[in-house]
Amino acid sequence: MIQATNNAIRRRIEREQSDAVLMANRAGIVPDAWQSDLLRSDAQQMILLCSRQSGKSTITSILALHQAIYTADSLILLLSPSLRQSQELFRKLQNFYTELDSDYLPQATEESALRMELSNGSRIIALPGKESTIRGFSGVSLLIIDEASRVEDALYQSVRPMLAVSAGRIVLLSTPFGKRGFFYSEWTDGQGWQKVKITADQCPRINAEWLEREREMIGDWWYLQEYFCEFVETNDQVFSYDDIQSALDPDITPLFERSDSTI
Ligand SMILES: Nc1ncnc2c1ncn2[C@@H]1O[C@H](COP(=O)(O)OP(=O)(O)OP(=O)(O)O)[C@@H](O)[C@H]1O
Ligand SMILES: [Mg+2]
Repeated sequence: MIQATNNAIRRRIEREQSDAVLMANRAGIVPDAWQSDLLRSDAQQMILLCSRQSGKSTITSILALHQAIYTADSLILLLSPSLRQSQELFRKLQNFYTELDSDYLPQATEESALRMELSNGSRIIALPGKESTIRGFSGVSLLIIDEASRVEDALYQSVRPMLAVSAGRIVLLSTPFGKRGFFYSEWTDGQGWQKVKITADQCPRINAEWLEREREMIGDWWYLQEYFCEFVETNDQVFSYDDIQSALDPDITPLFERSDSTI
């Protein structure tokens, strides 16, 4: 009888390993179609341009947990503009881990409010959004940047090399925040990304009447940005992004060109 039970559990674990949606189910989440696609994707680079409250943090925390549990020795970094926000994402992941509640999964050998280490050697670390404090990690398997439109470009530039040797994955998730920064440029021009856009009307948990009231409360600018994922100009932009782009003329040679051609 015990043998039969063990075999059943082993089969379930094997199924979960190859399909993170099954793990999400056991953690209490029935993913929306786009969330399931994300969990089953093997893209190296993903950008989620999604409405507020659409479930982007939830599903990336499941993705991270699945990687940690089922790929030994994974190093997973959770980044966002502030430590508080990274910790929030980490807390979601911890809650799902607790929900799974299985003796057959790698156990947490070290756990704090910012970090978890599993008995299979995987580590998950929540980090602050300051470039100076996060250098030094290498061999990163999965890098998640939540609220990415509000993360500084310098931070993005400094973390990308951490993926180089390990051929790790990167997931950027955010609502827009003006036509600026790496999130905007990767979304509009970036090559080699799986791009997912989910507006509020596509989320089954966001009610249409509630949305209409919200539009009246917060005004069109915020509404389009927060719920319909539009890159509207930021309030502090003196010139529009499109005006600046159209003013640039690639045929004009700069007056002073850099002499250092290696940069
Ligand atoms: N597939 C799902 N089924 C049920 N509830 C879900 C699902 N996905 C997300 N939720 C719930 O929806 C709420 C919002 O989810 P989440 O915080 O992940 O959204 P978000 O897009 O990151 O929001 P924000 O932009 O505010 O950070 C949470 O209460 C979460 O538990
Ligand atoms: Mg979120």
